[in-house]
Amino acid sequence: MNQDQLKKMVGEAARDEVLKLASGQVLGIGTGSTVNCFIDALAPYKAHFSGTVSSSNATTERLLKHGFKVLNPNDVNGLPAYVDGADEIDSLGNMIKGGGGALTREKIIASMAKQFICICDSSKQVSVLGAFALPVEIIPLAQGVVTRELEKFGGKVSLRLAKSAQEPFVTDNGGWILDVAGLSISNPLSMESQINQIAGVITVGLFAKERANILLVSNTAGVVRLIL
Ligand code: A5P
Repeated sequence: MNQDQLKKMVGEAARDEVLKLASGQVLGIGTGSTVNCFIDALAPYKAHFSGTVSSSNATTERLLKHGFKVLNPNDVNGLPAYVDGADEIDSLGNMIKGGGGALTREKIIASMAKQFICICDSSKQVSVLGAFALPVEIIPLAQGVVTRELEKFGGKVSLRLAKSAQEPFVTDNGGWILDVAGLSISNPLSMESQINQIAGVITVGLFAKERANILLVSNTAGVVRLIL
């Protein structure tokens, strides 16, 4: 079974999971290739929800193409659940996210939700976060000062480039991303709060305060559901 099949399988499991929620509510939807499988699987059942809130322009486009209603987060008071992938997840539900660059909106929508349902394949499970470079979204003019501050954590900091590799990758919010490689994150909550306090940081892709509550994880034997 290849990784695409594992993503499809967990996307379908997530569809079954959210269809257990009472109908007529608004659902929070994340970003990435695993979430795309979830959106495609949920599309025939979209009437179960009164609408969605989306964590990126790419997700909004896909939702609209399928005929989902996409609401402005400012018009929504709370969400029963938010479904998203992860780049890494530990056994407590702490995650590194932002490989696709959508971390800020992902964290905002996650903070509105009662439950964070993380969907991934088992390659994303780790005992200690940090093998995947930690994304940090920044205000562009703060690149120099934030780089120097992040280097104090011991990792190697690099500016994420666009596909052309000629210019910086620009997020949906007009921010840039610094990727911090080579960390071993023993206390995700503390590191999240320390990095959040650096002037010029918009969002750090450590999700400890907004950690996952439910993990649906696929492997060649099927999908396992864990309550974290
Ligand atoms: C997007 O910015 C990320 O946080 C994604 O949720 C994460 O990178 C997982 O993406 P895949 O499902 O594509 O691996």
